[in-house]
Amino acid sequence: MCGIVGYIGNKKAYPVLIKGLSRLEYRGYDSAGVALLENGTDLNVYKRQGKVQDLVAFVEGKSTAGTLGIGHTRWATHGLPNDINAHPHASGDGRMVLVHNGIIENYDVLKKELIKRGHTFKSETDTEVLVHLIEEIKSKYKVDLVEALRMALNEVHGAYAIVIVSKDEPNKLIAAKKSSPLVVGLGDDEYYLASDATPIIEYTKNVVYLEDEQIAIIDRKDGLRIISIHNKEVSPEITELSMQLEELERGGYDHFMLKEIHEQPRAIHDSFRGRLNAKEGWITLGGLKQYEDQIANANRIIIIACGTSWHAGLVGEYYIEDLARIPVEVEYASEFRYRNPIIRKDDVVIAISQSGETADTLAALKMSKDMGATILGIVNVVGSSISRITHGGSYTHAGPEIGVASTKAFTTQVTLLAMLAMMIAKKRNTISPRRFQALLDEMEALPKKIEKLLLSADRIKEIATEYKDAHNALYLGRGSSFPIALEGALKLKEISYIHAEGYPAAEMKHGPIALIDENMPVFVIATKGPNYEKVVSNIQEVKARKGRIIAIVTEGDTAVKDVAEYVIEIPEADEILVPILATIPFQLISYYIAVMRGCNVDQPRNLAKSVTVE
Ligand code: M6R
Repeated sequence: MCGIVGYIGNKKAYPVLIKGLSRLEYRGYDSAGVALLENGTDLNVYKRQGKVQDLVAFVEGKSTAGTLGIGHTRWATHGLPNDINAHPHASGDGRMVLVHNGIIENYDVLKKELIKRGHTFKSETDTEVLVHLIEEIKSKYKVDLVEALRMALNEVHGAYAIVIVSKDEPNKLIAAKKSSPLVVGLGDDEYYLASDATPIIEYTKNVVYLEDEQIAIIDRKDGLRIISIHNKEVSPEITELSMQLEELERGGYDHFMLKEIHEQPRAIHDSFRGRLNAKEGWITLGGLKQYEDQIANANRIIIIACGTSWHAGLVGEYYIEDLARIPVEVEYASEFRYRNPIIRKDDVVIAISQSGETADTLAALKMSKDMGATILGIVNVVGSSISRITHGGSYTHAGPEIGVASTKAFTTQVTLLAMLAMMIAKKRNTISPRRFQALLDEMEALPKKIEKLLLSADRIKEIATEYKDAHNALYLGRGSSFPIALEGALKLKEISYIHAEGYPAAEMKHGPIALIDENMPVFVIATKGPNYEKVVSNIQEVKARKGRIIAIVTEGDTAVKDVAEYVIEIPEADEILVPILATIPFQLISYYIAVMRGCNVDQPRNLAKSVTVE
């Protein structure tokens, strides 16, 4: 989490930094700060608890001159979200400032040693320790800033993406990274630095993704030079960005989340475009082609992910086991990596991640790679860390997702998992040609069905009005709709702060049924399919305890209407695609409830889009 930016060039740095921070605010919004080097002599540091707009208000009327500067938007790890702990942090002599995304794990030991050597600290952050360490090394060994940084980075453990400005080297921006992302944008005689490409895209399409343990030295005169922290020269590899600027705007919607919900027909179409053709009867996933045999012959598939992406993994488990008949285990990355898991060479490990930067997922993946497994990725952000360390993978092509609550990223992940399951099933001959063709047809029809479903947004808004004051909610589903119950509950929790639980419908009577009374909204997925009758019985059980039922049903259903307070119809579809369709009403319900409760939908409290700390 945390977003960092930097600029060196001929333009005024401040507006570039502020715009960049606004784009990165999804990564954290506890505080924001900038440092501007004016005339190479005055280092103006402004920082404030709160959002980037609070910083802008604070800076008003103060000097914002300077064509070189750095900025930071924070998601607090060490120390409260207040003005003092906000970045940038300065060295003891105030001549150097630094912004940081990540965690310096041995900061406590380092801090104690530095205190013994006379350093005093203003903040509670690990970052301030790093800038003091660089200062200490610089003066002790009489080396320049790059060398001091290099030596310091060899002493720290943990994750970092940092950018430094120093009065002693006023024509340089110096940056480094390990485990947290950092991108360098190459303009005409100007350079940009950012945690991802979104602050850079409107100025240049040419970027260099820094690799772990690399240091970028950007000099006004000499341009960009990269070395490793072991002092090896690295030649920069330039990548051209394909992202469009409009994708980063709200485009007339009140919130990014609403825009992203409505983008799902397009996003899902993009996720299968060029990868399947119903008329010709084929499916292919280019980035996985080379690993098709490994996947088809895998002893088992392990899916690792966090949060919403983990829910997508659970749906994937149903798909792959049902269609391709390969055992699947779905693991929380944070648990998997710390429990001494058994990973074999014939295991295929698939990471699912929107950002491609989630620290636990990344670490679990690295561990699996070290243990000899084939590691693959289903990732949205192009060029992200997970996409770069995996042997192969497929991008979901959802486009940038800015709202912290994942929406289109989830449905495109599930789409991709359905394609993967179909592709392996075909290869293993575990699917009949008829069913395979039917699924291809259904897949191609999916965007239109979602468009149709989105037409009921106003009705869903009305339904949301009824439940906006609830204190608790239950979400129930069976089979591949069970993970959708989990996802529905997560969406409600994270943006409206209503306590919600997702449960397999039949498990309800093993405990949660005790919670049901006349105040409890119970959202149930009761679409036509093999579990339909059983779910209807579960609905009756809720009804008998006076629970308030809101059911997602297949178009034309009448049986559930009689017992439910509200039904939301989804278009008829193959069972495999129901999880995708059923997700959408839940997204809209959460969205409208959160708006009605006055919550910050795109930036819910305590959260960040990209969780780059463990
Ligand atoms: O970027 P990732 O998909 O790896 O992120 C994983 C979770 O942090 C993420 O899905 C989170 O749960 C979302 N805020 C849920 O809406």
